[in-house]
Amino acid sequence: MIFKSLELKDFRNIENLHIEPGEKVNIICGENAQGKTNLMEALWLFTGAKSFRQTKDSEFIRFGAEKAFLKADFYAEHREQNAEISFSPSKSIKKNGIDIRSSAEYAGTCGGVVFSPNHMNLFRDGPKERRRLADTSLCQLYPKYLSVLADYKKVLEQRNTVLKDARYHSGLIDMIDIYDEQLARLGGSIIRTRVNYCESLNKKAAEIYKGMSAGREEFFAEYKTTVLDENEHAKSSVSTAEWAQIFYDALQKTRNYDFEHGSTSVGPHRDDIEVTLDSMPVRSFGSQGQQRSCILSLKLGEAKLLGEAMGEPPLILLDDVMSELDSIRRDYILNSIGESQIFLTCCDKELFSGLAEGKVFTMKKGKIKEI
Ligand SMILES: Nc1ncnc2c1ncn2[C@@H]1O[C@H](COP(=O)(O)OP(=O)(O)OP(=O)(O)O)[C@@H](O)[C@H]1O
Ligand SMILES: [Mg+2]
Repeated sequence: MIFKSLELKDFRNIENLHIEPGEKVNIICGENAQGKTNLMEALWLFTGAKSFRQTKDSEFIRFGAEKAFLKADFYAEHREQNAEISFSPSKSIKKNGIDIRSSAEYAGTCGGVVFSPNHMNLFRDGPKERRRLADTSLCQLYPKYLSVLADYKKVLEQRNTVLKDARYHSGLIDMIDIYDEQLARLGGSIIRTRVNYCESLNKKAAEIYKGMSAGREEFFAEYKTTVLDENEHAKSSVSTAEWAQIFYDALQKTRNYDFEHGSTSVGPHRDDIEVTLDSMPVRSFGSQGQQRSCILSLKLGEAKLLGEAMGEPPLILLDDVMSELDSIRRDYILNSIGESQIFLTCCDKELFSGLAEGKVFTMKKGKIKEI
């Protein structure tokens, strides 16, 4: 997707804004708390996803205003399009002048990848954040994946309720069989999708990491599933039905343990993505710079996969990440984004003094100026 123009009214601290971004690199410079991330958030909302800040819709409306309004002209799905999003405080979307009734109807219009300071904790946080990394991207690639995830969550909750309540109502024990079968079927599909995705992502990210670090270390990312033994590797040659069977067998093995603990100990809800550099887990052994470079490689790898799947380059938003990288890595990133339109925020425009082509904007108190 490529933004041609963006207009904002009463969105966060931005009262009125109109920009016509460049087709490649756009740098948004400004001091802290001026509205740079707010602008990134507004751009991101056009991908159809929720805010990467995980806030409520009502928080988008500028303090004292009644409605936040966003409008954009962009190139996506191989044609010129436009969309309007408003929050008053409930959200409504118009795509090419037509009201969109559900988020699902808008999904798939525009592809995008965002890297925000929250992602910096990817390796410090638990596996949930790493699963989310894959799931967010998979939901963009396969809109149906979201409903499989939701169904899985529902069955998992039901199974856990039975595991807890069966202590007091032994008649419930038989119901576990039904839930195991449903959970294994849905979980098998999730595991298969994630294993295959991680394998493709690894190929792209390893290539990017190699370029970024001048080949100093070997990057490797792998899906680690709890339905296999710890030293077993998840292979992409395993089919959905085979994963379902493996998961089902694992559920039988851990059933007594699960009854004791009142929760399900194996399955995609407990899985992880492990990243290693020269076979050492980045989570435990990576330096700050190595961790940051790994996350960036994963994100830019994700952009490449999304671009291939959608048949056009996705939007790339990099919020506040470049200032912490050395100039070799910064230049590599700017040169490896291919055809994507990219928006970068920073506090110091000197960081991009070597930028050959692109637009530079300054953001001050919610007002933007091209320089
Ligand atoms: N609904 C709102 N109405 C008015 N102001 C808001 C609203 N929501 C957030 N803000 C304000 O917007 C300001 C700018 O936020 P933003 O996160 O975009 O800053 P930034 O330029 O990215 O700064 P930093 O460099 O520190 O990341 C904050 O001071 C915040 O209080
Ligand atoms: Mg910010």
